Amino acid sequence: MTLLRVQHLSKSFSKNFAVQDVNFTLNEGECGALLGPNGAGKSTTLKMLTGILTPSQGEIMFYGKKSGDFRHLIGYLPQEPKMHPWMTGREALRFMGQLSHMEKRDLDDRVEELLSLLGIKKAANRHVSTYSGGMKQRLGIAQAIIHRPKLVIMDEPVSALDPIGRREMLDLLKSIKQETTILFSTHILHDVKELSDRVFIINQGQVVVNSTFNQLIADHQQPVFFIEAERNIDQWTKSLQSKSETIEATEALGNQARIRVNDIAKARKELLMMIERDEIPLQRFEIMQTTLEEIFLKMVKQ
Ligand SMILES: Nc1ncnc2c1ncn2[C@@H]1O[C@H](COP(=O)(O)OP(=O)(O)O)[C@@H](O)[C@H]1O
Ligand SMILES: [Mg+2]
Repeated sequence: MTLLRVQHLSKSFSKNFAVQDVNFTLNEGECGALLGPNGAGKSTTLKMLTGILTPSQGEIMFYGKKSGDFRHLIGYLPQEPKMHPWMTGREALRFMGQLSHMEKRDLDDRVEELLSLLGIKKAANRHVSTYSGGMKQRLGIAQAIIHRPKLVIMDEPVSALDPIGRREMLDLLKSIKQETTILFSTHILHDVKELSDRVFIINQGQVVVNSTFNQLIADHQQPVFFIEAERNIDQWTKSLQSKSETIEATEALGNQARIRVNDIAKARKELLMMIERDEIPLQRFEIMQTTLEEIFLKMVKQ
């Protein structure tokens, strides 16, 4: 069932488009990732979905309906969540539940359930001002899902965390994913690999890829030759592209080179021939695949 449908969504500030003609759908139970570099329009898109910003153009439909108050369907974790520092974790959570008009009994139970689930029970009576970044983020997730929303929208939920915090958060999101539909933004393709069913790559306000993670990889992963020599081969590497049609891009890294190609067999033959002819003192010659970062950079450079 289609939970969310976004059609021709645009937002301009003054005369500049932050988001321009964005279209996508998200089905119930899916996890969608809005992936893009800084300034791409991720936060602006998510804020329009939550109702914080009014679109300049376009439509947002929940369960096929265009108008109405959809806030009870949505949980939201902003990019920079603000919580009252003088409240305890438990108070902050109760407060958010009350804003959602939850029944007292249900709220009491749900607060304790989430404090346990998110590992903040021991710190529940401490002021939020004493929480670490990771704890604040977990409390932020708790407040986003307290009213059991149909869709949880999270703006860069893992970006600001250290590696351990990231790991914890990704595991947590995986468990939340079992229960609710998620739409989150990130600028890191690795997060997408772990969590999402659908990926929407946004660049300069426009969705440039709307795909599944596996399809994205299948469509864009390319063979890369890794070459290492006993001396600097920067000049040699740079000269390669004009000498072979199969070479799409080169990266000179001192004694090493990465060469992206479109035909493995042809490239292997040609590269080995040029290595021999130019007397490159070869140490390593290896065939790899483009990294996730390279695919992402290729997508957002288009
Ligand atoms: N309130 C605003 N007023 C003017 N420009 C804005 C405002 N909010 C965002 N922008 C601009 O819109 C573009 C997209 O911003 P944003 O949605 O925050 O990107 P992202 O979250 O992908 O980093 C940026 O160029 C940003 O400077
Ligand atoms: Mg943002």
